[in-house]
Amino acid sequence: MLQNNKTASVLIDKDSFILYRSKFKMSTDTISEQEVQMLRAETRGAAANIHFNNAGASLLPNAVLKTVVDYLNEEAVSGGYEIEDLYRQQLGDAYSTIARLINADPAEVAIAENASTGWCIAFHGIDFKKGDEVIVTELEYVTNMIGFLNARKLYGIEIKVVYNDEDGSFCLKRLEEAITDKTKLITATHVASTSGIVLPVAEIGQIAATHKILYLLDACQSAGQMPLDVKAIGCDMLSVTGRKYLRAPRGTGFVYIKREVQDRLKALFIDGHSIQRISETDYQLRDDAKRFELYEKNRALTLGLAKAADYALNIGLERIWQRIQQLAALLRDRLQGMEGITVHDNGNQLCGIVIFSVAGLESERVKRRLAENHINVSVGLAKSTLLLMNKAGLKTVVRASVHYYNTEEEIDKFCTVLESIK
Ligand SMILES: Cc1ncc(COP(=O)(O)O)c(C=O)c1O
Repeated sequence: MLQNNKTASVLIDKDSFILYRSKFKMSTDTISEQEVQMLRAETRGAAANIHFNNAGASLLPNAVLKTVVDYLNEEAVSGGYEIEDLYRQQLGDAYSTIARLINADPAEVAIAENASTGWCIAFHGIDFKKGDEVIVTELEYVTNMIGFLNARKLYGIEIKVVYNDEDGSFCLKRLEEAITDKTKLITATHVASTSGIVLPVAEIGQIAATHKILYLLDACQSAGQMPLDVKAIGCDMLSVTGRKYLRAPRGTGFVYIKREVQDRLKALFIDGHSIQRISETDYQLRDDAKRFELYEKNRALTLGLAKAADYALNIGLERIWQRIQQLAALLRDRLQGMEGITVHDNGNQLCGIVIFSVAGLESERVKRRLAENHINVSVGLAKSTLLLMNKAGLKTVVRASVHYYNTEEEIDKFCTVLESIK
């Protein structure tokens, strides 16, 4: 308890930086070094390690941590239902904040505990028939792959993969060519788990719209890293996790389901929260995306997710995206200049995820050696993005993923340590 009080006072001090920050935001379009220091001061973990595992899970801003901890503390004292009553307005507002992050309507947002749940709600909700074709990208995550294979077994759908060009870029022409009158769905991954490439999701959306095909986008790695606008993208469904670039706590996520599409999806798991009416012979679903949710969820985490979305919006997604690209370009550049390192990212648009291998050293060993020096990275396994990794002939890769709160000094230190262990 003592520790909590101590933490709270530190957090309140740091929160005041938000006021300063709005001044910086007005005075510059880019995130200045001074602002980075303030953002780092608002991130308890930033001083402890060099955290280049933002594609795994980012460090929480103090304000997000405080939101969750405060709510849980109140819940413990007042009772779960009683505190929910007190926070009803804030819990309702969480949907508006999340909707604002992706330029959607709050009635188009369902909160889920991760991106996989959100993606499955959308994908498995589709009424597939034998012979339906699903066009997928080579970036798909393992959850999505399992979904495709499962739907092929269950319904007899056909899976068509649109592979990227030889230079790594997505090929819109190949997508156009793959479409037939049997195409039921285009599913794409904005940013893969084990590649730095960013897909041209709005252009894909235009093609989907022209052919009137459902479009499901996995935005798990892009949310919080770059601006997301479901209207500009033109997707019908979009899944997001909280813990990655959005900087929300683990166990959070959401799915966007466009209003016009909601009635076309089967709601697979339903409870009393999902319906508006029930009689002894029938029930009627809600008329918004909450029909895809269940009643019981962690209210503290819902508020934490919304706080993280608000935090990102407050900094500005364009500014975040700009800084991430700068840092990642610097990191790639430095790695490319090091003997024995192979950087695997290619394509015409790259993001904060930097993928590489070290000659003669297993990825897991690289990760361990870096961890001994207080540097966090992760290892990407072939199964996570099977199509992409198989095509590249890779079994594992090292993934260093930078966020706006990382610094050039950290990149320097990272390269020095890597040089010493390779
Ligand atoms: C591109 C992509 N999609 C989906 C997921 C699944 O997210 P979650 O673990 O929140 O279900 C991941 C997780 O790494 C991912 O990188």
